[in-house]
Amino acid sequence: MINLGIVGATGMVGRTFLKIMEERNFPIKNLYLFASHKSKGTVIEYNNKVYEVEALDVNSFNKDLDVLLFSAGGNISKKYAPIAKDKGIIVIDNSSYWRMENWVPLVVPEVNFETIEKHHGIIANPNCSTIQAVVPLKLLKDKYGLKRIVFSTYQAVSGSGVEGLKDLEKGIQLPYHNKYPYPIAYNVLPHIDDFLENGYTKEEIKMIEETKKILDDNSIKITATTVRVPVKYGHSISANIELKNKFHLEDIFKLFESSDSIKVLDDIKNNLYPMPLIAEGTDKIYIGRIRRDYSLENGLNIWIVADNIRKGAATNTIQILELLLNRRH
Ligand SMILES: NC(=O)c1ccc[n+]([C@@H]2O[C@H](COP(=O)([O-])OP(=O)(O)OC[C@H]3O[C@@H](n4cnc5c(N)ncnc54)[C@H](OP(=O)(O)O)[C@@H]3O)[C@@H](O)[C@H]2O)c1
Repeated sequence: MINLGIVGATGMVGRTFLKIMEERNFPIKNLYLFASHKSKGTVIEYNNKVYEVEALDVNSFNKDLDVLLFSAGGNISKKYAPIAKDKGIIVIDNSSYWRMENWVPLVVPEVNFETIEKHHGIIANPNCSTIQAVVPLKLLKDKYGLKRIVFSTYQAVSGSGVEGLKDLEKGIQLPYHNKYPYPIAYNVLPHIDDFLENGYTKEEIKMIEETKKILDDNSIKITATTVRVPVKYGHSISANIELKNKFHLEDIFKLFESSDSIKVLDDIKNNLYPMPLIAEGTDKIYIGRIRRDYSLENGLNIWIVADNIRKGAATNTIQILELLLNRRH
């Protein structure tokens, strides 16, 4: 039994932490919920008990806390995660702020659970698209080696939190946009997070760098184009992969089918392939459209879909928490 706090408890990811913990009957002694001043006093139910949200401030962690889950954006993690760490509280952070620090493990339990051993008080949860991509990529890397990857993503508006959903839901009724620079309803934006000097977006660089860090291989050549689409929940990725070694396509199917985290949906004769509407509300990573890329010697195309709020964020965080707890016993 642990004393757990959630920073960003009223947000899309924060609320999903609670949902997943309820589903898993998570053992909690005391639970503390934090958000901005505007949410102070908001009531949230967890396991038939009512909790009041507290406004986050520098004294918020003067409590019997063992672990804090952060999901309130990079600036909050930047300021408050060190405060928690200095008090001996372990932070699992959903923002991108700490992910690329050398001393911070960036963890997807199916891929690199062992890196958690090296934590120094902060453990990072990777970017949503990266999480769903690295699970199949790790299997391919171990069996065939990875030379190059081209990611093209189709990302749901819930990836931008409640504000992203609002742009889509309102925009379907009337011309409206607030979170994004253009309407997302009936549109597609090749723009996620800020643009950088080199012409990439931060989201694209996150996918490239985080994939290398999680797979522990800087030699893999990776490029990415990340795109926002008018879908509520569920990110899709087209991954074009160049393997180091030859493969038989049927072995690739078997490899993915051997993973408990993956569900292969690939029966083109019956129009069966992964889609966001299938992934929504589940914890699986769905893979389909598995086929050779005939333009390369060892080329492979796959289509990967997962619920960005669950496996892409909250479920992965709770799995990290479970790893931590098992390690403490
Ligand atoms: N959505 C995704 O697919 C996804 C995936 C992976 C990672 N993440 C990351 O998770 C974090 C949260 O995302 P989200 O989608 O849950 O966003 P969200 O729905 O907009 O929720 C943001 C949360 O942060 C809280 N917050 C904002 N300003 C605060 C402040 N000054 N002090 C304390 N709390 C504050 C909000 O509280 P109020 O309600 O009081 O404003 C709310 O609880 C972000 O870092 C995001 O990058 C999101």
